[in-house]
Amino acid sequence: KISFQGRHLLTWKDYKREEIVHLLERAVELKQKPYSEALAQKTLAMIFEKSSTRTRVSFEVGMTQLGGTAINLNSRDMQLGRGETIADTAQVLSRYVDGIMIRTDSHQKLQELAANGNVPVISGLCDIYHPCQALADMLTIYEQKEKLSGVKLVYTGDGNNVAHSLMIIGAILGLEVVVASPPGYEPLGFVTENARELAETNGGSVTITADVEKAAEDADVLYADVWTSMGQEAEEAERKKALFPYQVNQNLVDIAKPDVSVLHCLPAHREEEITAEVIDGPNSVVFDQAENRLHVQKAIMEALL
Ligand code: CP
Ligand code: NVA
Repeated sequence: KISFQGRHLLTWKDYKREEIVHLLERAVELKQKPYSEALAQKTLAMIFEKSSTRTRVSFEVGMTQLGGTAINLNSRDMQLGRGETIADTAQVLSRYVDGIMIRTDSHQKLQELAANGNVPVISGLCDIYHPCQALADMLTIYEQKEKLSGVKLVYTGDGNNVAHSLMIIGAILGLEVVVASPPGYEPLGFVTENARELAETNGGSVTITADVEKAAEDADVLYADVWTSMGQEAEEAERKKALFPYQVNQNLVDIAKPDVSVLHCLPAHREEEITAEVIDGPNSVVFDQAENRLHVQKAIMEALL
């Protein structure tokens, strides 16, 4: 009944709760039994328009462990970087490879790639979403709390791609998602609307607030991401100023539940969005979280490719 064959992954909004749960269950199995020939002779093209450590390495290692191959393509070295269209690139790559993972600055490019090719397209982050990260985060939270439904997940800082994907997947899986952001840095209105609709049908909730200390009360999970995302470097100084009160520090950890888990998608900037004391402290699970990228992406590739 559940079929993933040939589908794209641009946002979790396109997936049902049982489909996401299925991928999480498969990720747990793959974590225990990593090697197979499930994707033998299959090739994944990985296009990067932006830097990456985790996404790049975990997708490539994941393909290797499933018996397939990944090709790393920097968009600057491709004809894409010299003006070849996304549509032509999609058609050409579809003749060679079995799937395309792309990290890009624009969700629209992802949609164009998906619309013009005939192989699955997986988002490795765009300006609006970071779905693979959010699935790894759900696995990490499940490992810590042994449940997802009803878990209070507090994201603090910039209402960005990582926040958006957490809101969407959290709403679908029944979490109590709270995003604490200063004025001007809230999540996009349409994403909040979508997430709230999804929460209503799935028993979760999505709250946006500027009051970070109130948000942290009873938190099961505190989540931080960078204040200045890739491509926003010109705004760094003003972002630091606006977002400083939203830092994940010991004060915030002390407000949350005693067993609060601290997550960060990484890369981290110690003493900016999170203190060294917290990210290197006993509540932090950031390296389990980074590891889980590998396991969930293997589940995703196995299903879609
Ligand atoms: N969290 C994450 O996507 O890391 P990279 O930018 O290193 O891929
Ligand atoms: N919000 C960050 C996430 C990096 C993994 C960015 O877009 O740069």
